[in-house]
Amino acid sequence: MAKRIVVLISGSGSNLQAIIDAVDAGRIDGRISAVLSNRPDVFGLERAEKAGITTEVLDHKAFDSRDSFDAALMERIDSYQPDLLVLAGFMRILTPEFVRHYQGRMFNIHPSLLPKYKGLHTHQRALEAGDSEHGCTVHFVTEELDGGPLAVQGTVSIEPDDTEESLQQKVHKVEHQIYPLAVEWFCADRLQWSEQGVTLDGSPLPASGYRYQPN
Ligand code: GAR
Repeated sequence: MAKRIVVLISGSGSNLQAIIDAVDAGRIDGRISAVLSNRPDVFGLERAEKAGITTEVLDHKAFDSRDSFDAALMERIDSYQPDLLVLAGFMRILTPEFVRHYQGRMFNIHPSLLPKYKGLHTHQRALEAGDSEHGCTVHFVTEELDGGPLAVQGTVSIEPDDTEESLQQKVHKVEHQIYPLAVEWFCADRLQWSEQGVTLDGSPLPASGYRYQPN
């Protein structure tokens, strides 16, 4: 049966768009039940509305604590009974209760080859380190920030003339390939996180996840 997906955003929503496009193309056996943003007036909300998807804004500034915001967010999310919760540029640290509630059915995308460069300014840090390779990762979310088991990684090469901006663009392009892929596999019951770790078609993946070759 088609899976119910809820997407959380805080910004432009280009990853959301890539997932909308893959759903519309029939690649993903699921539908996006709702898009929730913690920030009003972000472009990602327009993208969702244009695609005819229900949107909600839950402004974290209107809550007096992280706990109360996350509890309210959970209530809104659960009203859609999602099979999968997708964090797509959702820039909030989540409480342990929230993370535990969606464990095994919540993805995040991060702009680095995790476990390298958790947190912010990942492109700049890869450049400063003199890395020859950079990329992005889709992972299951755990209580450790940017620390959950890795599902899919896509790499880009760093060229001598790359800047933070050029690198960001290259990585974004690959994000838009690996996020729909991970969602597609999850919705087809091919990609799971269980006692055996992360598996694809029943076989354990390496700790770095499935290595996607960008096109
Ligand atoms: C993406 O690059 C994503 O990897 C990053 O935010 C951007 C959102 O772009 N997420 C994180 O840094 C999470 N730690 P988008 O709104 O255009 O999809």
